Amino acid sequence: MAKDQIRNGRLEGNRSEDCEIYLASMDADREIAECDIRVDMAHVLMLVQQNLIDKDAAKKILVALKGYMENGLPENAFDPAREDIHAGIEAQLMEDVGADAGGRMHLGRSRNDEVATCLRMRTRQYILDALSGIFELRRALITRAEEHTTTIMPGFTHLQHAQPTTLAHYLLAYENLFARDAGRLFDAYSRVNRSPLGSAAFAGTGFPLDRELTASYLGFTSPMENSMDGVASRDFIVETISAFAILMTNISRICEELILWSSAFVKFVNLNDAFCSTSSIMPQKKNPDTLEIMRAKSAAVTGELMTSLMLIKSLPMSYNRDLQDLNPHLWRACHETVSSLPLLAEIIETAEFDTAAMKKSAKAGNTGATEVADYLVREFNIPFRAAHNIVGRAVKLGSFDLAVVDDAAKELAGLSLVERGLTQEAIDRAQNPKEIVRSKKTLGSPNPRLVKKAVQVADVKLVQDEVTGDILRDQLEDADNRMKHAIEEL
Ligand code: ARG
Repeated sequence: MAKDQIRNGRLEGNRSEDCEIYLASMDADREIAECDIRVDMAHVLMLVQQNLIDKDAAKKILVALKGYMENGLPENAFDPAREDIHAGIEAQLMEDVGADAGGRMHLGRSRNDEVATCLRMRTRQYILDALSGIFELRRALITRAEEHTTTIMPGFTHLQHAQPTTLAHYLLAYENLFARDAGRLFDAYSRVNRSPLGSAAFAGTGFPLDRELTASYLGFTSPMENSMDGVASRDFIVETISAFAILMTNISRICEELILWSSAFVKFVNLNDAFCSTSSIMPQKKNPDTLEIMRAKSAAVTGELMTSLMLIKSLPMSYNRDLQDLNPHLWRACHETVSSLPLLAEIIETAEFDTAAMKKSAKAGNTGATEVADYLVREFNIPFRAAHNIVGRAVKLGSFDLAVVDDAAKELAGLSLVERGLTQEAIDRAQNPKEIVRSKKTLGSPNPRLVKKAVQVADVKLVQDEVTGDILRDQLEDADNRMKHAIEEL
C-alpha cells in the first residue's frame, strides 16, 4: 500500500490490520461515497471561485471526480487502511491526478465537516424515500377505505368487542396516523437540510470560503450558523431515527392487527399468498411471515434509536470519533423503515377482507349495548348512569328480553320502562349495527356519510403532501444540475 497521505507527517509505524479494520468505517461509508464525491465537487468549485486553487488543478480534480461519479469509485478507495471514504477518495485522487493537484482539494476543510455534510445529504434522501413509501401506504389505505364505507365490523377496546364501526373508519384511523408520520418527517427534513460544510475541524478557517455557495450547490437551504455545532451535532440523526421509530411502531401495530385478523380465531382477512409462507411439515399452513418480519424490524429501529441516544449523551464538544460508530445505526434504521413501507402498502392493496365474517362478528359480545342505553336516555329522559346500569344488568343476565330489561329498570332505577312505552322491537332495533353506525352524529365518527367526506379530506391532504415531496426532490435535482453546469463551464 502507498504511504498514508494523512498519517505520513505525524505518526510513526503502521497499525496492525486488525486495528485498521477496527477503526475503519468503510462498510458504512458505502452509503455516503457518492455524497462525498458531490461534496468534493462543490468544495473544489468554490475554491476556484474564491481564487484559492488555480483552474488547472481544479479541472484535473473535477475530471477525476466526475469519472468516479460516472464509473464508480475504484475499490481501492474503500481500503480500510485509509480509515474512511473521505481519506480513501483523497488518496485515490492523488494517485490519479498527482499529489500536486490532488493534494489541494482538502484546503480549508476537515473530515469532520465533510462527514457531517455527507450524513445530512444521505439522510435527506432516505427521508424522501420514506415519505414516498408513506404516500403509497396512505394511498392504499384511502383506496380500500373508499370501498368499505358501509362495511360493518366490530370495533374493539381491550381487544374485546366494543361497538360496531366500519372497515373504512378503521383503515382511515391508520391513514391519519401515517399522515402524522409524514408530518414528522417533513419537520425533520427541514432541520436535516442545513449545511455544515465550511465548519472545517470545528473552528472554521482563515481561508475565505463561500459557505453559501457550497450549501447551494449541494441543495441545502442554508449553511449552519455555528461551526462547532456543524461538526459536533447529531440531533438530526436522532430526530430522523426517532421519527422512523415512531413510524415503525405504528407499522408494527397494523402488522400485529392483520396477523390477528388472518388467524382462524378472527378470520377478517385473507392475505395475498405472495406475502405468506407455508410450513415444511404442516401442509395446511399459510403463515403471515412478511408481517411478522416487519413487526420484528420495528424493534430494531427502536433499538437503533436507543443506541444513538446512548452513544451521543456523553460526548463533549466538538467532534469525537465515537460519532463514526453512530452511522451504521442510522443506516440500519433507514433501511428497515424504507424497505417496509412499500411492502405493507402492497399487503393492504391485495388483502381480501371477509366482509361477511366482519358483519357476523359486529353483533358479538353485545356491541349494541351502548346504543340501547343511549336509547333509554333519549326516549325516557333517565340519567345515562341509570341506563348504563339497567343495560349492564341485562347483559349480566344474558338477555335483552323486554321483561328482563324492565325488571332491571325497576330494581336499579325504581321505575317501569314498559309502563312508559318501551317495546321489545325498540330494544332490538337499537342493537342493529348498521343503524348504530348510521346514527352517529359526531365529527370523526364512523357514520358512512362523514367517513365518505373524511376519505376526500385524506385524499386532498395526501396530494398536498405528495406535491411537497416532489418540490423537495426537485430542489435537490435543480441544485445538482446547477453544480454540473458550473463544472462544465469550468
Ligand atoms: N469517518 C469519520 C466519521 O464518520 C470522520 C473522520 C473524522 N476523523 C477524525 N479523526 N477527526 O465520523
